[in-house]
Amino acid sequence: MNIKSKVEEALKHTTDCLVVGHFEGEKLSPTLSEIDKALKGTVKGIIAAKSFRGKTDETYLLHTYKALPAKSILLIGLGKKKDFTLEKLRRGGGKSATAVRDYGISTFSTLLADNVPEEVTGKDAVTAITEGTLLSLYAFNNYKTDDVKEIKKVKGLTIVTGKPVKGAKEAVIYGTILAESVSYARDLVNHPSNKVTPTYLANEAKKIAKELKLKCAILDKAAMNKMGMGSLLSVAKGSEQEPKFITLQYDGGKKGVAPTVVVGKAVTFDSGGISLKHAKNMDEMKMDMSGGAAAIAAIAAAAKLKLKVNLVSIIPAVENMPSGRASKPGDIVKSMNGKTIEITNTDAEGRLILADALTYAERYKPAAVIDLATLTGAVIVALGHFVTAVLGNDDALIKNIKKAGEASGERVWELPLWEEYDKLLKSDIADIKNSGTGQAGTITGASFLKNFTSKYKWAHLDIAGTAWDVKGNPYLPKGATGVGVRLLIEYLKNI
Ligand code: BES
Ligand code: MN
Ligand code: ZN
Repeated sequence: MNIKSKVEEALKHTTDCLVVGHFEGEKLSPTLSEIDKALKGTVKGIIAAKSFRGKTDETYLLHTYKALPAKSILLIGLGKKKDFTLEKLRRGGGKSATAVRDYGISTFSTLLADNVPEEVTGKDAVTAITEGTLLSLYAFNNYKTDDVKEIKKVKGLTIVTGKPVKGAKEAVIYGTILAESVSYARDLVNHPSNKVTPTYLANEAKKIAKELKLKCAILDKAAMNKMGMGSLLSVAKGSEQEPKFITLQYDGGKKGVAPTVVVGKAVTFDSGGISLKHAKNMDEMKMDMSGGAAAIAAIAAAAKLKLKVNLVSIIPAVENMPSGRASKPGDIVKSMNGKTIEITNTDAEGRLILADALTYAERYKPAAVIDLATLTGAVIVALGHFVTAVLGNDDALIKNIKKAGEASGERVWELPLWEEYDKLLKSDIADIKNSGTGQAGTITGASFLKNFTSKYKWAHLDIAGTAWDVKGNPYLPKGATGVGVRLLIEYLKNI
């Protein structure tokens, strides 16, 4: 899809459909007022009749019958003006794009970047609209062979502003790179696990490294064995799929500056292992590599955006399967940092692979380590699907991640990581066990990881709720969300 920006008077702009925003309970914006006059009061009439109020995500399509060069006007609700954030523009961009698509319109224009409240710069508005538009139009049709011709597609969007917006062109490019990177992460997650195996992810990493001139190293089973990654390997053992330990490195910052390390959980299918999951919705466990997908896509985005940062992505990739060779409840393994772990539940596998990846991260002497993992179902109980949980050992780091969450629209909320919780993972016969009693599931998950992160500043993001099927956000279609990519880029941009 092609997105461009253009400076032109709204009333003179020719298009199949012109998107115009309206704040609930406010007067019409100057532009909408002019449009209303040209349409002989139709807009005011629609609002007076309460057919359209301007609530968030609300839409209303009207035809202009040649009263304007624009063939139709799509009104889009931006909610209450006092609640306005860039997120409303992402949503508005997303909602209008899918509405336009569903009406069968293939090129359209938007005035959403005009008339934004003063606290938002035109450039940020243009990025937000670009992001929302592209993210909402994402569709995963790779496996459809029937009816493909009937899939409606939008070809072009012109972002129209009355006055020139400084940096508008760059803002479109920035938003496009972000959205394309998120789409790439979504693709990796949406592809089924018979395609996306640890080996597939390793090959993708190599491909990206070549394309973007990143350093890439893949450790195979033998190499991991040599390093003492007994915890990680215990998860891979039950599967026919070879585990892969993937690292990508982008040196965009000054030489010698400590890198940020991102660790992404990549369990390409989580059956639970011998502690087998229920059949219901087990198909969704192909998404258990969402953290790894975000780690790969984010480093690619950072390189494409030429961010001046040093960044390393570590992706431990395995499949968790039951078999005669699989780990059994009660088994004890030794992790890379020497701690012994009693595996009381083979379905708490994410923390087992992260343990060794987090120990491995020490070698980079990182400025900070951020891990992303679909680690616990408990996070959905605690926070639902709209927010990612963050826990860690450094207040400033957590604060910066929260800030990036607000700005990017990928919000995070902190849960406590107090030492009281540590005793829930005390084992009778090993140093620690990998699952607790069921209380405070998300916190005990992080509390387990804490055993491997004492050497650096660390934050853990539990994305089990936000990585998949988040309903009610117009720019998050069914399935994978690609969560983490926009959050990480926003965080990196600010360090
Ligand atoms: N991958 C799951 C967590 C998950 C659940 C992700 C729902 C997405 C949606 C993880 O490996 C897991 O199974 N966690 C267990 C931990 C428990 C055994 C301590 C869980 O949440 O039940
Ligand atoms: Mn599991
Ligand atoms: Zn898992």
